[in-house]
Amino acid sequence: MTTSAIDRFDFFTIAFDILISIVGSIIVNRLIPILKEKFIKAQLWGNDLNKRNSKEVKIAESQGVLAAGIFLVLMFIMIAVVFSEHLHPASVFPHKKFVEYLAALLSICCMVLLGFADDVLDLRWSVKLLLPLIASLPLLLVYFANYHSTTIILPKPVRPYLGQQWNLGILYYVYMSMVAVFCTNAINILAGVNGLEVGQSIIIAISILIFNLIELQGVCWEEHLFSLYFMIPFVACTFPILIKNWYPAEIFVGDTLCYFAGMTFAVVGIIGHFSKTMLLFFIPQIINFLLSVPQLFHFIPCPRHRLPRLDPELNKLNPSEVEFKKSDLKLLGWLMLRFFSMTKFIRYREYTNNDGERLISTTNFTIINTVLCWFGPLHEETLSRILMLIQIVFGSLLTFFIRYYLVKFFYDS
Ligand code: UD1
Ligand code: MG
Repeated sequence: MTTSAIDRFDFFTIAFDILISIVGSIIVNRLIPILKEKFIKAQLWGNDLNKRNSKEVKIAESQGVLAAGIFLVLMFIMIAVVFSEHLHPASVFPHKKFVEYLAALLSICCMVLLGFADDVLDLRWSVKLLLPLIASLPLLLVYFANYHSTTIILPKPVRPYLGQQWNLGILYYVYMSMVAVFCTNAINILAGVNGLEVGQSIIIAISILIFNLIELQGVCWEEHLFSLYFMIPFVACTFPILIKNWYPAEIFVGDTLCYFAGMTFAVVGIIGHFSKTMLLFFIPQIINFLLSVPQLFHFIPCPRHRLPRLDPELNKLNPSEVEFKKSDLKLLGWLMLRFFSMTKFIRYREYTNNDGERLISTTNFTIINTVLCWFGPLHEETLSRILMLIQIVFGSLLTFFIRYYLVKFFYDS
């Protein structure tokens, strides 16, 4: 492979990647109707809570595992193509790249397994947080063995005070594992409306794909080509899942898909050295996470489900609420409640019950409920479309603006 620019062999590899991705997409599409009954028989099903007949219909859960399974098969086939050029005796085999590729797949594979385990066993929140940490280990250790580079370039405005660059050492590994933990869980907690989990994942994947295509002209083209090999099959394999999970959902994606998507983004961001840009594609998820902090860390009670509540008469969704005694609220919880209420992210009311106790009823702390506070009540499909639009505008378009315009003021390139 040339070291200066993308060559004809790479174009062939991309074309092959696209071709097998199309085949993969067709296979996932065929597998869903065949396997969903089997999933229901194996008790892997859930009720669509925002439908009038929610109790009567069983919907197959964890269908993301089909996309993940076929994705992995495609990526295994790609090994033969991506690295075949180097089998020529005169060529030097890129062992480091090869190990990275395998480690990336191992991390994704491990995350899919753990995500499926979560779907089956319904693990506790604290355990869910740990899973991506375990799954990211293969990648981090290969990064350690291959690169050792833990230096970050600082933005221009702070350079006179803090210097040109910083070596973060072990903190860099902590940062990378946090990226994996964040990406996986952030998608999973922005969930509960048909099409949302897989829809946001596909928008992020297409954004990464466009970013890679632009950067193929740059000096780091090899890393972006590498990421492209992952993103093309990802979009292809998850697309049939989106079609079937879109309103009215025939299947649920399960935590498997959220973890699979999050880990795939984390590995390409880390190996492709664009984890900061990748995190910018997660702006809506970052806001949703920050908004969720009071409930995730139990400053405010967190119910099992925070998804919106159906008004059966209108067939429209309202924000879901959680109710608790005012006396149970600690100072920090109270401050958080006031802050998010003042910034209009949540709506709460105080009242006295028959026993004379002061109660608080607040909308749950997610941007899904925030959208409903502002524009609701909304039909589920409309809500899904608005959330997709938010992802495109505040996740993708804003990131491209920051990356290709604003960044000039902060970095040299
Ligand atoms: C996360 C959210 C939870 C949200 C749930 C919905 C946090 C901390 N957790 O939990 O608030 O309610 O996702 O996925 O924010 N479901 C629907 N319609 C959908 C998607 C899911 O009714 O479009 C219901 C189904 O009953 C399905 C269940 O949600 O079986 C799946 O929930 P699960 O993924 O297990 O929830 P968590 O990821 O733990
Ligand atoms: Mg989930």
